[in-house]
Amino acid sequence: MAGSADLARTGFQEERMGGTAKAPVRANGRGEITALTRDREQHFRAMFEGAAIGICTCNLNGQITEGNAALSKMLGYRREGLAGLHMWELYRDDLPADRRLFSELEGGTEDFLKQERYFRLKNGACLWGQLTVSTVRDAEGNPSFLIAMLEDATESKRNAERSRTAEKMEVIGRLAGGIAHDFNNLLTGVLLYCDLLSEGIERGSRLLRHVQEIRLAGEQGAALTQQLLAIARKQVPQPRPILLNEVVSSTENMLRRLIGEQIELVIALAADPRPVLADEAQLRQVLLNLVLNARDAMPHGGRITVSTKADRRFGGGHGGVCLMVEDTGCGMDDDTRAHLFEPFFTTKSPGHGTGLGLVTVKRIVSEAGGTIGIKSETGLGTGIEVTLPAIEASPAAGTPQRSRAGQTILLVDDHSSARNSIQRVLHHAGYRVLQASGGRRAMKVFAESEHRVDLLIADWMMPGMSGQELVAKLRQQNSELRVLLISGYHNPKDAKPDLSVELIRKPFASSALIERVREVLDRKGDS
Ligand SMILES: Nc1ncnc2c1ncn2[C@@H]1O[C@H](COP(=O)(O)OP(=O)(O)OP(=O)(O)O)[C@@H](O)[C@H]1O
Ligand SMILES: [Mg+2]
Repeated sequence: MAGSADLARTGFQEERMGGTAKAPVRANGRGEITALTRDREQHFRAMFEGAAIGICTCNLNGQITEGNAALSKMLGYRREGLAGLHMWELYRDDLPADRRLFSELEGGTEDFLKQERYFRLKNGACLWGQLTVSTVRDAEGNPSFLIAMLEDATESKRNAERSRTAEKMEVIGRLAGGIAHDFNNLLTGVLLYCDLLSEGIERGSRLLRHVQEIRLAGEQGAALTQQLLAIARKQVPQPRPILLNEVVSSTENMLRRLIGEQIELVIALAADPRPVLADEAQLRQVLLNLVLNARDAMPHGGRITVSTKADRRFGGGHGGVCLMVEDTGCGMDDDTRAHLFEPFFTTKSPGHGTGLGLVTVKRIVSEAGGTIGIKSETGLGTGIEVTLPAIEASPAAGTPQRSRAGQTILLVDDHSSARNSIQRVLHHAGYRVLQASGGRRAMKVFAESEHRVDLLIADWMMPGMSGQELVAKLRQQNSELRVLLISGYHNPKDAKPDLSVELIRKPFASSALIERVREVLDRKGDS
C-alpha cells in the first residue's frame, strides 16, 4: 500500500537515500525478504523510532499512516491516535495555500516543502513547528508516499520575537532622539513665550486663559516627548529633592482638563511629607500615565483619587513617601495583571493605547529606588501605589534663591526660537545676555565681550561644536567659568565625566530656568 513505512518494499528508495550497501536491496522475485534486507529494515526502523524529531509517513492525501514516538510525544497523541489523522487536523490555521502545496507534492510537480507554522496539540495548546515534507517515489518514479518531519521551533521563535522587540525599541529610540531635539526646541519657545505673555496680561482676563491653554498644550507635547525618550532610554534623569505634593499640585490643572467633566478628580495630600530625590519631569510622567489609565478605565465616568502619604515602614533611613492613584473603573482580570508591565501590552484598541505607559512608570520608579503596588479586581476599580524613598528635608528644597541679576550670561543655541525665548526670559529677570548661534561664534563673543562672562548656557547638541566641546575650550581661558548645559536629549555615554557642568532639560518653564541659573551662580566658591 502506498504510504507504508515498510521501506523494504521500496528498494529503489533505499538507493536514493544513499544506503551504505553497494548492491541494491530488493525483495527477491518470490516476495521473500532476505536476511540482509531484514537487517536493513531493522536499522531504518530503529532510526525512525529513535529519532529526536517527530517523523511520520503520510499517504499522498496528507493522511498520517504512522508516526514515531517523538511525534506522538510532541503533539500529545498516542501512536494509534496519530495514524489516520489528516495533516490539516494538526494545523492551527488551515490555509488554502497550504493545501495547494500538498497537492503539488501529490501531483509530483514538487518533491519537497518546508514551512513554519502553528500546530495544534491534543490538549488544545499550540506549538510553533518547522515542518519538512518530502515525496518518496516508486521504482517508476511516481509519487508513492510522503515523509513528514516536525521539529518544535517554539523556543527559537520566542528568541526571534525577543530580538524583534529589541529592534523595535532601537528604532523607536532613534526616531525619538531625532524628533526630540527639534521638538524640544520648538516647545521651549512655546512655553517660555507663554510665560512671558502671561506676565504681561492682567490676571483674570480671557486672554490669560487662552495663553494658559496654549501652555497646557505645550506641556502635553513635552510630556509626550519625554515618554518616548524614557522608553528609548535616551532620557537623562536629573534627580533633585522634590515634594510629591508639589508635583501633584502643579499638574492638577492639566489632569482635570485631560480627564474631562464626566470624571471627578479628588486630591488628598499628606500634611507634611518629606521630599524624595527624583526627576520632576519623570514624576509628572508617572502621575500622568497612572491618571490617564484610570480615566481610560472609566469610559462612563467615575472618580479618580490622587493622594500622597508618608510610609514610615519603607526601607531606608527616612521611610518612604507614597503617591496613590485610585479609580472606580473596570478593574483588571488576572491575565491583564500578569502582563501589565510588558512593553506593548495593551487591552486598548489601536490608536488608543501603545502599551508603553506602565513600562515607563516601572522604569522611572525602580531607577529612583521605589516600588509599585497594585490592587485591582474586575469591576471593582484599581489602585496603584508608587512608593519612593524619602530623604531628609533640606531647607533649600523649594525655597527661592537670592537674585544674582545684573550678571552676564553667554547663551549659545543653534535653534533661534529656543535661543530668543530663553534670552527674553533671562533679560526679563535682569541678566545681561550675550547671544551666539554656535560654538565658533560664541568663542568670538566670549573673547571680545567687554563684560566678564559669569555663566555660559549652551545647548548640548549643536552642529559643528557641541556644548561640551565649547565648555572645554572656554574653560582653557577661564577655568572658573560656570556652565549650565541644556539637554534636549543625549546619550549619557557621550558625557565627559571630567567636565563639571549642570544640566537643564528642554523644554522648561521660565521659573525653572531662572531658579537653575540662580542655583548655579550662587553655588559655594562664588565670589
Ligand atoms: N487603572 C486601570 N484600570 C484598568 N486597567 C488598567 C489600568 N491601568 C492599566 N490597565 C491595563 O493595563 C494595560 C497596560 O497599561 P499601559 O499604561 O502600560 O498601556 P496603555 O494604557 O494600554 O497604553 P499607553 O499608556 O501606552 O497609551 C492597559 O491597556 C489596561 O488594560
Ligand atoms: Mg497607559
